[in-house]
Formats: sequence, structure tokens, C-alpha cells
Amino acid sequence: MLDLTQSIVICALLGSVYASCPPRCECSEAAHTVKCVSKDLRSIPTGIPGYTRNLFIIGNQISRIGPESFKGLDNVTTLSLSNNRISEVESHTFARLRNLRSLDLSNNQLAVIHPEAFTVQNQSLRELNLSRALYNHSSVMDLATSLRWSSLGTLRGLDLSDNSLIYLPSRIFSHLASLRRLLLSNNSLVAIHNSTFSGLENLDELDLTLNALKTLTEEALRELDSMPGAALLLGENPFTCTCGIEPFALWLNRSQGRIRDAESLVCSIPESMRNTSMLSVGTKALACHQRDAGADLALQTSYVFLGIVLGFVGLIFLFVLYLNRKGIKKRIYDMRDACREVWEGYHYRFEIDSDPRLSQVSTCTEA
Ligand SMILES: *[C@@H]1O[C@H](CO)[C@@H](O)[C@H](O)[C@H]1NC(C)=O
Ligand SMILES: *[C@@H]1O[C@H](CO)[C@@H](O)[C@H](O)[C@H]1NC(C)=O
Ligand SMILES: *[C@@H]1O[C@H](CO)[C@@H](O)[C@H](O)[C@H]1NC(C)=O
Ligand SMILES: *[C@@H]1O[C@H](CO)[C@@H](O)[C@H](O)[C@H]1NC(C)=O
Ligand SMILES: *[C@@H]1O[C@H](CO)[C@@H](O)[C@H](O)[C@H]1NC(C)=O
Ligand SMILES: *[C@@H]1O[C@H](CO)[C@@H](O)[C@H](O)[C@H]1NC(C)=O
Ligand SMILES: *[C@@H]1O[C@H](CO)[C@@H](O)[C@H](O)[C@H]1NC(C)=O
Ligand SMILES: *[C@@H]1O[C@H](CO)[C@@H](O)[C@H](O)[C@H]1NC(C)=O
Repeated sequence: MLDLTQSIVICALLGSVYASCPPRCECSEAAHTVKCVSKDLRSIPTGIPGYTRNLFIIGNQISRIGPESFKGLDNVTTLSLSNNRISEVESHTFARLRNLRSLDLSNNQLAVIHPEAFTVQNQSLRELNLSRALYNHSSVMDLATSLRWSSLGTLRGLDLSDNSLIYLPSRIFSHLASLRRLLLSNNSLVAIHNSTFSGLENLDELDLTLNALKTLTEEALRELDSMPGAALLLGENPFTCTCGIEPFALWLNRSQGRIRDAESLVCSIPESMRNTSMLSVGTKALACHQRDAGADLALQTSYVFLGIVLGFVGLIFLFVLYLNRKGIKKRIYDMRDACREVWEGYHYRFEIDSDPRLSQVSTCTEA
């Protein structure tokens, strides 16, 4: 009797273990799906069934995950850990999920990311969502290191939107050779440099909307041209339509085909140009032309100034002449007398020279 009850209890226990579902989670064997949504969980629950392909542990209080968190889950292809409080990801945390294709860590507070945090044994990872996942901009160096060392050569999509990134470390994406889609929307990026996107020659889509780009320098334009197949989104940036924007505006006109939102790009600074279409900027008179006009004005001003100085010097000269007028008058009379003497002397000698008799006399005496 007692033995029977015991065996029934054991059978029931075995049965529940067999069809187990962790407490506070919903499991569907038919759909190969387990969901633990907004249940105040502090860690990854144990006992997740082996059939699970889609695992959603979202909206909980999980702060730390590591390699021990995901055991015996070979079949998981989609893992979402979004909306938790994860602040640290250890190396090889997901390594044993060797069929993992999509990893969503969006809406977390990653402050420490270890170098091989995203390594998956089979290199099966295709999509990585780190939207609003970084605690602050300081995490970007950790991120760059782990993108370098996590063997992500087969990654197709990377979402880094909503992260307050100010700059991207040089060559941060250079080991993501298969990347097709890179989302950088809603950060605070101020510039694109020479090697910001190096290694992304195969990119299909690059989203740079809602950043802090005031212009795209010639260096940045060259960098974007190094990904000729990538469709670009550039809207909602504070483009500054002053003189230096011209190369960008011309490039925009030239590259309209692949800039999906080219038509909607507008200047936001200066006030006078606000809402002006960036496509019309190339033909508009910008501040640089005003600066040319300014140079002309400066030249004219300097001519006027020179004239005034010369006039002033002339006036002084005349004034000096006026003061010396008596001495000058005397000089002039002296000069006139001197001239007259000289002239008369010449005249006399001319008369002598032209009188043949007198010349003969002179030759006779010489002889
Ligand atoms: C993965 O799924 C297959 C078939 O659905 C199953 O045979 C296998 O046991 C599962 N793996 C694990 C670790 O449970
Ligand atoms: C590696 O991943 C591929 C899919 O990316 C899968 O078909 C294959 O079974 C995986 N290999 C192992 C050993 O899990
Ligand atoms: C990444 O996660 C965010 C928030 O959960 C979501 O809005 C976004 O669509 C996801 N990105 C991709 C590429 O699926
Ligand atoms: C990011 O947070 C850490 C820890 O609070 C802090 O030391 C660092 O200065 C912060 N960095 C930025 C850019 O705010
Ligand atoms: C941009 O990201 C911040 C958080 O970094 C968020 O608060 C804000 O709503 C986002 N803006 C848009 C338009 O998505
Ligand atoms: C930019 O990178 C190229 C190689 O990709 C290099 O030859 C060139 O000197 C770099 N220019 C600057 C300004 O750093
Ligand atoms: C710019 O255009 C937007 C929408 O086209 C409009 O809402 C906004 O008021 C305009 N701003 C100015 C300063 O004209
Ligand atoms: C922009 O391109 C159009 C043709 O697409 C051309 O007619 C126009 O002259 C170009 N504007 C400038 C400033 O190059």
C-alpha cells in the first residue's frame, strides 16, 4: 500500500520531469517554444526542455549570464534576453548553443563584455541585436574587442541602434566579413573616418539616421563609397549647410540611387537654410560665395584707403611748397637768370661759329 503510493508519487515526479517546464514559464512542445515573460526572474531558470528552439526570457530582472546558464539546449536557434538588467556577458556564454542563429540582447545595460562573449561553437550566429543594450558609450571598447574575438565571420545582421555611441573605434567591424545589414540609428555619431567601416565591402544596408552628423567630409564620402552595394539611410542628422557642405551635396546628387532617403534630407543649420532640401544645396549660393563677395569688398576698401593716403601725401607736399614759396620764387629767378646767361652764351658762340670769316680767322691763327 505504502509502496504503491510511493511509486505513484515517483511516477508523477518522473512524469512532470519528463514534460517539465520551469516554474513561471510557458512551454509549448508543439511549437518548440518556451517563454518566461515579465516574471521577476533573477537568473536563467533551470530545466528548460531540450526540444526548445525558441527561447524568450524577457522583461525579467536577470543581471548576469555565463556559460553555466545554457546547458543542454542544442536545439535553440532563437534566443531573446531583451528587457532585462544584464550588465556583464562572460566569454563563451552562448558557446554551447551550437544551432543559435539569432541572439537578442536589446534593452539591457551591458557594461562589461568579455572578449569572446558572442562566440558560438558552430559559428551559426546570423543576427545579433544590441539595440539599446550598452550601459554607456564606454562599453564600446569592450564591444569592439568582442566583435573582433567572437568568430562572427558569418554574422549577417547587427543592430546597434539607440546606444548613445559617440564614435566608432577604427576597424570595429573588420572581422564581420559576411555582414549585410548594420543599424546605427539613434546614436550620437559625429563623424565617419577612414577605416570606420573597413571590412564591410558586402554590406547591403547601413542605417545612420538620428545621429549627430553635421556633414560628411571627403574622407567620410570615400569610406561610404568603399561599400558600393550598400543602401544608405542618413535622415534626421543636423546637417550644416555652410560652405564646407558642397562636396557632400554634390556626392548626394551623384549617389541618389543608393541613398534611400535622399529626397527627405534637409539642412538644419543655419537658420536661413533650415528645411532646405540637401539636394538643392549644390546649386544654391552658400556662405562660401558670400565669403568671395566679402573678399571683393575688402579689396575695394583697400583701394579706397590707398587713394586717401596718396591724397594726403599730395596735400602735405603742396603745403610744404606753399610754406617755401619765397625761397622757391628766388630759386626760380636765379635759375631763370642762369638759364638766360647760358642761352646768351650759346647764342654768341653760334653767331661766331656761323660767320665764315671769323672761322677762317680762327683757323689761320691755329695754323
Ligand atoms: C533536439 O531535438 C531533437 C529532435 O527534435 C531531439 O531528438 C534531441 O534530443 C533534441 N536535443 C536535445 C539536447 O534535447
Ligand atoms: C552547425 O550549424 C548548422 C546551421 O548553421 C547546422 O545545420 C549544423 O547541424 C550545425 N552543426 C552542429 C554540429 O550542430
Ligand atoms: C532589436 O530589438 C529592438 C527592441 O527590442 C527591436 O525594436 C528591433 O526591431 C530589433 N532589431 C532587429 C534587427 O530585429
Ligand atoms: C560609463 O559608466 C561608467 C560606470 O558608471 C563610468 O565610470 C564612465 O565614466 C561612464 N562613461 C561615460 C562615457 O559616461
Ligand atoms: C533614442 O534612444 C534613446 C535611448 O538611447 C531613447 O530614449 C529614445 O526614445 C530613442 N529615440 C528614438 C526616436 O527612437
Ligand atoms: C586611409 O586609408 C587608406 C588605406 O585604406 C590609406 O592608404 C590612407 O593613407 C588613409 N588616409 C588617411 C587620411 O588616413
Ligand atoms: C520643417 O519642415 C517640417 C516638416 O516638413 C515642419 O514640421 C517644420 O515646421 C519645418 N520647420 C521650419 C523651420 O520651417
Ligand atoms: C543634380 O543632378 C541632376 C540630375 O539628376 C542635374 O540635373 C543637376 O544639375 C545636378 N545638380 C548639381 C548641382 O550637380
